[in-house]
This record gives sequence, C-alpha cells and structure tokens, in this order.
Amino acid sequence: MKKILIPLLFSFLAFILDSAFAQKQINLNLPWKFIQGDNPVYASPGYDDSAWKTIAVDKIWESQGYDPYDGYAWFRVKVVIPSALKSNASLKDSLRIYLGKINNYDQAFLNGQLFGINGNNATPEMAKDSAFIQAPMNFWDKKRPYTLAVNDPRIHWDQENAIAVRVFDQGGQGGMYTGDQSIMMTCLGDYLAIENNLAPYVFSQGKLQKVVGLKNNSVFYHLNGIFRMIAVNKLTGQTVFTKDEKVNLDPGERKESTVELKQIDQSVLITYRFEFQDTGETVSVSDETPYITTPTPPDKPRINGPSVTAARPGKPFLYAVPATGLRPMAFEAINLPEGLILDKQTGIISGKVSIKGNYQVTLKAKNSKGEFTRELTISIGDRICLTPPMGWNSWNCWGLAVDEQKVISSARTYREKGLANHGWTYVNIDDGWEIPGDKNPKRDTAGNILTNDKFPDMKRLGDSIHKFGLKFGIYSSPGPLTCGGYTASYQHEIQDAHSFASWGIDYLKYDWCSYEQIAKDTSLAERKKPYFAMRGALNTIDRDIVYSLCQYGMSKVWQWGDEVGGNLWRTTEDITDTWESLREIGFSQVGNAPFAKPGNWNDPDMLIVGWVGWGPSLHPTRLTPDEQYTHISLWCMLSAPLLIGCDLERLDAFTLNLLANDEVIALDQDPLGKQAVPVIKEGDIQVWVKDLSDGAKAVGIFNLGKNTVKYSLDLEKAGIKPGGQVRDLWRQKTLETTGKILVTDIPSHGVSLLKIKQR
Ligand code: GAL
Repeated sequence: MKKILIPLLFSFLAFILDSAFAQKQINLNLPWKFIQGDNPVYASPGYDDSAWKTIAVDKIWESQGYDPYDGYAWFRVKVVIPSALKSNASLKDSLRIYLGKINNYDQAFLNGQLFGINGNNATPEMAKDSAFIQAPMNFWDKKRPYTLAVNDPRIHWDQENAIAVRVFDQGGQGGMYTGDQSIMMTCLGDYLAIENNLAPYVFSQGKLQKVVGLKNNSVFYHLNGIFRMIAVNKLTGQTVFTKDEKVNLDPGERKESTVELKQIDQSVLITYRFEFQDTGETVSVSDETPYITTPTPPDKPRINGPSVTAARPGKPFLYAVPATGLRPMAFEAINLPEGLILDKQTGIISGKVSIKGNYQVTLKAKNSKGEFTRELTISIGDRICLTPPMGWNSWNCWGLAVDEQKVISSARTYREKGLANHGWTYVNIDDGWEIPGDKNPKRDTAGNILTNDKFPDMKRLGDSIHKFGLKFGIYSSPGPLTCGGYTASYQHEIQDAHSFASWGIDYLKYDWCSYEQIAKDTSLAERKKPYFAMRGALNTIDRDIVYSLCQYGMSKVWQWGDEVGGNLWRTTEDITDTWESLREIGFSQVGNAPFAKPGNWNDPDMLIVGWVGWGPSLHPTRLTPDEQYTHISLWCMLSAPLLIGCDLERLDAFTLNLLANDEVIALDQDPLGKQAVPVIKEGDIQVWVKDLSDGAKAVGIFNLGKNTVKYSLDLEKAGIKPGGQVRDLWRQKTLETTGKILVTDIPSHGVSLLKIKQR
C-alpha cells in the first residue's frame, strides 16, 4: 500500500507546488455577491454578505434579472492573494487589480479601503467624494486597471482579501460586465505603449504609410528589446512584409517607426510585437490596412439619393438635389408642384405645398460633360421620413464638448467633401447645447429653454445650415435633465417645440434618462407617456420635425414607436467603436424587422467610422477596415438611419469611400423600406437578405469569425432565384452570373455585399 501511496503523494505535492509557483494571475471572473442600493458598510471586509445574491461579472445586470435597474449597486468577492504571485513575477513592485470595464461608474475598495475610481488609482480619503458619478458618460467603455505598491497595507498577502465595488449606473445597462477581471503583478509590458492608433494610414501614390509610436511610460525602468512588424495578407495568409528594429527606451522616452506598404485591394494584418531583451516577455498589438473599393464618381452629372422625399401639407419643404459630377452644374425640375421653386445653380428646392398628393417630378442635372435625368416623387401627406434619415450628429465625436463652430464646420465640410452629393442631409446637435442643470433645470423667467455660451444664436446657426440646403437637428430629453445633466423638456414640451420651430429645427432626438425618476412605474403606459407628450407638442408647430425616440429599445419600442408618432427609435444601448459593440448591436436586429417601413425606422445607433471619441479628444475608430465595411453594409441592409458620428473635418480617403458609395447607400434608401433578415447562419457566416423595390435582392454575407472563409452560398437556400445578374456593390462591378452556388472569399469580420437581380 505504502509503496503506491508515496509516489502518488509526491506527485500530488509537486502539482500543488508547481501550480502555486507557476501562478501568475488570479481569475476574478467568478460568481460575485451583489446587492442593489447603497450603504458604505458594504465596503467593510467583515461585512456579512451571505444573504446577498450571486452575480456573474461577464454580463450586464439587466441580463441577470435586474431589468430595468439604474442607480447604485455593490459587488463583493473574497480572494486569497498568494505571495507566489510576487515570487513568480519578473518585476516585484506593484500588484494590479483589473476590474474590466464597468457600466457606468465605480469606486473600488480593498479590505475596506478605497483604491480606485473610474479607472484611476485612488487614496482611501477620496471615498467621501461623490463626484465620481459625474465623469463623462462613455466611462462604461473604459478599462479599470488599478495598481497598488506591493507593500501597500491595503493588500493582505496570503490571506483572504475582500474586494468591494460600488457601482453607479446612470441609465441603460449596468454593472461589471467584461468577464476578464483578474489580479496579477505588473510587468515591463505594462509600461510600454505601442501607439498604433494615433492616426490612420495615409494613402500616398499607391502606398500606405503610418507612423507608430513606442512610449516608455515608466519613470524608472529602461525598456530594451526588439520591435518587430509582421504584415500578412488577410485573404492569402502570405507574409508581405517584416521589419525588425532594436529599440532601447529610457524612462519616459518615446520613439517612432514608420510602416510603408504597397496599397492593395484588401486588408493586410499587421502585428507589432515588442520582445523584451531581459525577460523574454512580449507585448503585441495589431491593426489592419485600409483599402478603397468605391470608384470615384464620374465627371458627368449623376443624381443620387432617395427617389422619394416627403413633407406635410403647408409645412416648409427643403430638398437639395444630390448630384455628383463636375461643377458648375445647372439643375432643372419639371412638374414641380405649386408652391415649390428650384434654385437652378444650387439645385435647392424650397417652398410649401398645400395640397396633398404624390407629385412625380423630373430632375435634370447638366454640366460640361453631359446631362442626367431622374424621377423624384414628392409626397405631400401625413407621413414624412419615407427613407431612413442620413446625416451627421455631434455625439460620437464631440460628446458634451460640441459647440457652434464644430457644427457649422461640419455643415461646410458636407459640401466641400461632397457628402451632400450622395444624399447626406441632416446636421444634428446632440446633448450639450443647453444650460447645465446642476441638479435643477434652468430656464428664463418665462420658462423658455436657453442655450449655453457655446451656442450664442441657434436661429443664425439654423439659417446657415439651411442655406447649404441641409437640415438642422437637435436633442432633448423628456425628464427635467438630459443624460448629460443639462436642462431638458419636462413640463415645457409645447414651449420647447416652439423654440425649436423658431430656430428652424427639422429633427428632434428625444432621450429618456431623467424621466426614469418621473415615471410612476415601468408599465408600457408610463413608457409611452413622455413621447406622446412631445408628439402632441410637435403637432402644434408649423414645421415638420422628424421625431427620433432614444430610449434604448425599452418595452420593445418598435411595437409602439409609430403609435406615439415616432419616425425612428433606438433599439439598443449606446454603441461604441469596438467590434464587440458593433457585433452585439448590429447582428441582433432581428425581431424588430417587421416594424421597419417608410416613415418608421429601427435605429441601432449612430455610425462609428472615422475620428470618434465622445469629446473633447478624438481618436481614429478602433474598428478595422473590414469591420467598417461590415458596419456600413449591415446598417444599409437594415434600413437603419445613417448618422455619421465622426469629425467631418478629419474625414480621410478611406472613410469618405465608406460614406460615398451610391450603390451601397441606395440599399439603405430603397423606397420599399424593408429591413434585411438573416436567412442562413453557418458557423461564423451569416447571410442576410433584403428585398428591394425593383424586385432584386440585396445579400450581405458576413464573416463574424477570426479567419478568412471561402464561402459557397447556396442561392436557393437563401431564397434567391439562381441565374440572375450579380453586382458587387462596394466595387460597383457586375460579376459573372453563377449557377446555384456563389463562391466568395470573405475576410475575418468582413463582408461581401451583393445585389442579385431576380429573373
Ligand atoms: C444617451 C444617448 C446618446 C446621447 C447621450 C447624450 O442616452 O443614448 O446617444 O444622445 O444620451 O447625453
């Protein structure tokens, strides 16, 4: 007996010792204890939380039985922090407690002492400061890596430690949700920043260039090693470029390296890897190169944009004929209904039509290279917004830092960069134009809504936007305060609607946020009430205002958004510029499809291409080029409102190519107004199909996986008759017609977007 036991015992001990020594990280993606509400005693290590519920920290609390809950809640977990973590580490100075991302704000306590606030290390004294809930709202997307010196008395080495996290959710999704929470020692790699997303690639004479920064963020360590760049063709897997550089960075030092590649018709995956000379540790990040597919529009005139536009009888009408081609261009409009006039030089049609009807107008555009003719239906009736609105909104770039100058320069760039020629129309200010509420709304003595200093004259701003032939949008909330804490429309709906009308507003995004405190309960009637109230107010003014509801899809808004008079409604929480966010939101727009129709659109939130950042400092989108093709393709397939969310002044060639493809935009603007539905899901591939007004089908083959896929689409299985002409919409090329099977290579996170004529 003994003979067998002893070797067994040895190997068991060896296993334990081995795993203790090898341990470099403690996984905190465990069941945590959870309670709603707020009480400072919850931070205390000895607090008895045994009666609390358990909660997972890899998903928001709404999906774990707490829907809808906004406000305070606490998470607690107990873990032993073994000193083996220190002995195994190459650097022995600091411990990192990583809490993932938290929706929206947090204060984190270790053994009763505060150590972190909203992603920044904190001293216990800061625990009394309640300002942590006033940080910018997109803090839900910020990582929380908190570090403590190894000799910090808040850490109890080799003993149980209580971690308590006080969370405040100010609206929408809540809690700890990323599932990557952990404890580990900091390492050399933590001090190295590989800055590959400071600026996008620049196209120059058939080449692509980008400057990558290497920054030593330590004030103490020298970072020495080899910096390697490896570029691999995403479709073929072939390595197209490698470069090794020996790099020594003194504390605080920053160096730059340039990547230069030949421009090709697809993305190249570039991995930047730093191998530390002393420890062998590596840090790597990657990005993918942009490629342009949209052909430059011809010099000859071409009229783009939707084939239908609408206004209510007797309400101001404004429509700028969107046309590409050389300027000067002369416009003509035959059969314009009475009350409308055309400016022949600018192509802007304006006026008022008092009699209901569908007016068929023939538009002509002429320049030195030729002439183009197209039909436009002007629908004068009760329904407006017959195709999804296309425009720009300030939120995803400037957040609350928006000002008049930024709005007016966006409008100007619309024209200068030619976006207006493709049908982009609205220029919308989001939150941040009103007077900050400071807990209470502030109005003038007559109760009129006031603008803050950044918007000295809304009427003047509206006039200048209209002069460009563009339309003007604004934002408000049904509660006393907006989501950003500014004065909102509660109990002033009619007065505000009149102010909006006097400024020339054409579009209102109407949020929810502080109405949560006004609503009596979460019943459907209470959810509808504030939207009916503003609808009633909008009905009293002499302008058409597109009415956009922004309550994140609560109570299946798509089922009643039309009833409360909405033209579009947000179906989800806020989007951010990551693949995870795009995938979650975009590919879940399924059940709401039957509710999309001319005048009513499901809104999966604004676009996240170009320079974004929720203000004031911006960065190039973190989506890869293939992810951006997927984003625009999917939104167009979904008949989603298209609201550009980037700084238009920094629009680069790649982003412009995404936003100026008329055949892709035509899917979105198709007058039939059908939202695409998924028809095939096979592994990482999803095939979505959209019916079009000309009888053709649009097909999006999306690859959600990490590798390129050669996919054979069985057309019949997708509900499409084989043998029809196939058009690659991004490249605007007609492909050979195939038989029953259509074979395409689709890069990871990329798309093949086709239009197939039905015989
Ligand atoms: C959020 C909304 C955002 C933005 C923000 C402004 O609720 O989802 O799109 O409008 O409010 O505070």
